[in-house]
Amino acid sequence: MLTRLDVRLPAPASSERSYPVFLVGDGAVERRFAEELQRRMEAQAGARRRGTARAPRVALLTDETVARLHRGRYQQALADRGIEVVATVVGDGESAKSLATVEAIADSWAGARVDRETWVLALGGGVIGDLGGLLATLYARGLPLVQVPTTLLAQVDASVGGKCAVNLAAGKNLLGSFLQPRFVWADLTTLRTLSARDLCAGLAEVVKHGLLGDPGLLELLEERSGAAASGEPELMAELVARSVVFKARVVAMDERETDSAAPGGGRAQLNLGHTIGHAIESASHHAPSEQGPLRHGEAVALGLLAELRLGAKLGVTEPRLEARIRRLLAGLGLPVEVDGWLRPEVLARVGVDKKGEGATIRLALVERPGVPRLVPIPEAVLFQELLPPPA
Ligand code: NAD
Ligand code: GLY
Repeated sequence: MLTRLDVRLPAPASSERSYPVFLVGDGAVERRFAEELQRRMEAQAGARRRGTARAPRVALLTDETVARLHRGRYQQALADRGIEVVATVVGDGESAKSLATVEAIADSWAGARVDRETWVLALGGGVIGDLGGLLATLYARGLPLVQVPTTLLAQVDASVGGKCAVNLAAGKNLLGSFLQPRFVWADLTTLRTLSARDLCAGLAEVVKHGLLGDPGLLELLEERSGAAASGEPELMAELVARSVVFKARVVAMDERETDSAAPGGGRAQLNLGHTIGHAIESASHHAPSEQGPLRHGEAVALGLLAELRLGAKLGVTEPRLEARIRRLLAGLGLPVEVDGWLRPEVLARVGVDKKGEGATIRLALVERPGVPRLVPIPEAVLFQELLPPPA
């Protein structure tokens, strides 16, 4: 199986910035990837490379788990095509998204003579995609980037659209940029090794896409929640394809999240569930529970519920939607007990999130599935409406 979807960005007449997202299901996946990459590298190098002895080179970035499970096949396929690989492996998880990691990797690349001809290959989940993307924007003032997302979350969301960032102590994703990849290679076979927890975390972003722009996707998830939570391959392919089509449409109309007058509030609508979700995620890293910090997708699930509740209290969101989405998220194996997170010290983190503008928060809400709307609210309203009344 090989499906090609396209992210079509408006470009200056002199350049072509659109790129394909390949969904690949089986059969020599890594060999076909290496062929695709080589073809594109050769096209870029053109006459410059011809006649030089230097082999094409890739800076492959991955994490420990993906290195153990999937790196070998990709690295071998690249070597088979004569592509030299400088591999960097970071520890798993959100803590790799730091400026210290960026500096350490950049130093090691400099030592390995990574240069402007080198392409960055981000092989992993959203953490690796964000980290690899930021490195590719910064190193040598910019290197071509290829995303090979290996989590459901990264395939349905993080690998598409060009956002990349690391975290600061003051908040999540505060140090970031935009860099659209040359192409995205969503290898659906990698999802087979994903833990149940990480698979379910990815489903939260699919629910978000359904809420914003594809109500039929919500119905599909409601009908097939068991199959979704167990990663049934054909369903995964459909969820990835529909999510990419939706996200590509939003990114194409407002690539840099600067046009809130665009339909549905432009790209800012994709922050649904994230304004409060990021605050909950950050709080979970500072006071982790028995299960450790929340996964990004788990925090988004809780953020969706909090924001649907807030939307209903503000008279924007259909009041019954919170209960419907709670049932769906629970059926998908996601956490739904949000009340315990709605505390002043957690909500205070919303204020330092990049979505805040002074004391006003630009909240991405939905009126009903398929009808997104941006609503500016004073920060104080967040506290008034979401905190329990004083005893
Ligand atoms: P992650 O990258 O930490 O991956 C989750 C876990 O799955 C990790 O332990 C990883 O080692 C493991 N893993 C990855 N692929 C695997 C595989 N095929 N088999 C087994 N294990 C595998 O987390 P994530 O949920 O993929 O991404 C979350 C991150 O993405 C957050 O930092 C979030 O901010 C970011 N994000 C970015 C965007 C964007 O547009 N740039 C969008 C959404 C989320
Ligand atoms: N995940 C939000 C965005 O890509 O804009």
